[in-house]
Amino acid sequence: MRMSTTAAASGTFKIGGDLEVTRLGYGAMRIVGEGTWGEPRDRDEALRVLRRLPELGVDFVDTADSYGPFISEDLIAEALAPYDAGTIVATKGGFTRQGPGEWIPVGRPAYLRQCVQLSLRRLGVERIDLYQLHRIDSEEDQEAQFAELKKFQDEGLVRHLGLSQVNVEEIEAARRHFDVATVQNRFNLADRESEDVLDYCEREGIGFIPWFPLAAGKLAEPGGVAAEIAAAHDATTGQVALAWLLARSPVMLPIPGTSTVSHLEQNVAAADLRLSDEEVARLTAAG
Ligand SMILES: NC(=O)c1ccc[n+]([C@@H]2O[C@H](COP(=O)([O-])OP(=O)(O)OC[C@H]3O[C@@H](n4cnc5c(N)ncnc54)[C@H](OP(=O)(O)O)[C@@H]3O)[C@@H](O)[C@H]2O)c1
Repeated sequence: MRMSTTAAASGTFKIGGDLEVTRLGYGAMRIVGEGTWGEPRDRDEALRVLRRLPELGVDFVDTADSYGPFISEDLIAEALAPYDAGTIVATKGGFTRQGPGEWIPVGRPAYLRQCVQLSLRRLGVERIDLYQLHRIDSEEDQEAQFAELKKFQDEGLVRHLGLSQVNVEEIEAARRHFDVATVQNRFNLADRESEDVLDYCEREGIGFIPWFPLAAGKLAEPGGVAAEIAAAHDATTGQVALAWLLARSPVMLPIPGTSTVSHLEQNVAAADLRLSDEEVARLTAAG
């Protein structure tokens, strides 16, 4: 199996035109308990994963106040603050938690403001590099949610703003209030529902952060295209899934999540897995 190189081989992208990150990042949702709730099973390993990131050249970390809730941000600060190695932490607000696996969006401006203020405190930063609205709350006025985010930027609480799980119309509505630097939607080898959003982001120079990037569904099963291509490269299907994402678009910023150092090293090794044009085309067509 291919093992650890550094994330540098994935190339870089400038978020919002000026915040350079290495394209292969890390998603910090898996360092908390089952159902994204409570303390992780192995807290020491979670801290080891986070501390290994700079050593592996991973400088872009995605989290949210709702992971735990709060625990993922707390662990990131414990492991990496004051971020001397240059780690860029993107977080999100706007999702409330009622228990394991339960998530309810709340976009009331006063609540969003509480979210950003508490994330600043937990992460131990004066300004959040990338702040994402985790979900648009359909029961609140959308324009008021976007207007409040813009105020965070004007007040210097956040540098760049992003959205999560949105369609093109919603991105355009948000862009009437602020520059949308990134969009984070579910996208992987097996799930291309957001293809139109990805194409829009590529055209507009907006970073596209695919969540659940390792999934390959049936393509990873014996006889599946991802399994065949993985065998040819002495790679795993997860590594092929990540390599395909990186090849699919220059604005793609995958953030595979894991709770173990060994899986992290495997995922980072996908950065220099070069698929041929023909392999990329076969994987693209198979979706
Ligand atoms: N915006 C949103 O609404 C949203 C929603 C979901 C997620 N996200 C973000 O996207 C990130 C990635 O999504 P995700 O964590 O759901 O999916 P993912 O990264 O595709 O998959 C993570 C799962 O795969 C396992 N895994 C990771 N590396 C592996 C490896 N090398 N070999 C075998 N298994 C491996 C992990 O378990 P182990 O811990 O055992 O490795 C975990 O169960 C999250 O961490 C979060 O930051 C955002």
